[in-house]
Amino acid sequence: MAAAVALALLLPVLLQASHALATAAGNAHPGYTGADAGTCGPARHGPGLEEYGGGRIVDITHAYRPVMPGATVQPLLRLKESMEEGSDYNLSDLRMECHTGTHVDAPGHMNQAHFAAGLDVDTLDLDVLNGPALLVDVPRHTNITAEAMESLNIPKGVRRVLFRTLSTERGLMWKEGTDWSYVGFTEDGAQWLVDNTDIKLVGIDYISVASFDHLISAHVAFFRNADIILVESLKLDNVNTGLYMVHCLPLRLVGAEGSPIRCILIK
Ligand SMILES: *[C@@H]1O[C@H](CO)[C@@H](O)[C@H](O)[C@H]1NC(C)=O
Ligand SMILES: *[C@@H]1O[C@H](CO)[C@@H](O)[C@H](O)[C@H]1NC(C)=O
Repeated sequence: MAAAVALALLLPVLLQASHALATAAGNAHPGYTGADAGTCGPARHGPGLEEYGGGRIVDITHAYRPVMPGATVQPLLRLKESMEEGSDYNLSDLRMECHTGTHVDAPGHMNQAHFAAGLDVDTLDLDVLNGPALLVDVPRHTNITAEAMESLNIPKGVRRVLFRTLSTERGLMWKEGTDWSYVGFTEDGAQWLVDNTDIKLVGIDYISVASFDHLISAHVAFFRNADIILVESLKLDNVNTGLYMVHCLPLRLVGAEGSPIRCILIK
């Protein structure tokens, strides 16, 4: 009730603010969507394309929703100081697994020697995480086996590849709970990539680069090389295949073997 009253009082203010911004900057702040002020646009919570700058920038990061595949710690956010409760400010706690939503695996994730050597997310090479990248479609009938890798014909010299799979077509990231039949690398697929390509950044569209049956073995195959970086749960819905500049920035979590990461593509 109090919330409804507060909202009713607040709405005209928000609308006015939105209008003021629109007239001042010639454009409304993207966070305000006119009559829906205060609500999130559908693109942010659905498979729509999230573009900025007239399509120049595509966000390929999932919004952190309270319920996401692979997330075991709920809720992510807790408002511990609230203006509605009389505080002068709003202040939230964030609690999550480091491997929730769009995230990066550091080499120490499944390699004890790398972990002991201190190869945490804070040591990840930003040069690998930022640069030209190929977005490819994996044949829909298969996991990423050696045979599937070979059929993709990824040229030598390509260092960053984002693999879109059947998981995107099945909308798995948009479902509640984890679907273990997602598509990922098999052990021989991971080994084939390591042996036959120059790929150092591997991106995938569901919670793990490794298919469930090869969950450990495919990770281990990648992480024999400390210079391979894995980015998981990318939002690749409705993005055209092809060459982009990718930009991925992990948080500097000292000692962590994983981190939330923001990834964008630039055309
Ligand atoms: C502060 O948090 C309340 C929830 O208690 C929310 O309704 C309000 O919009 C927030 N205010 C700001 C300025 O973010
Ligand atoms: C991929 O492998 C998983 C098990 O790891 C399986 O459930 C799934 O059906 C496979 N997908 C395809 C397209 O072969």
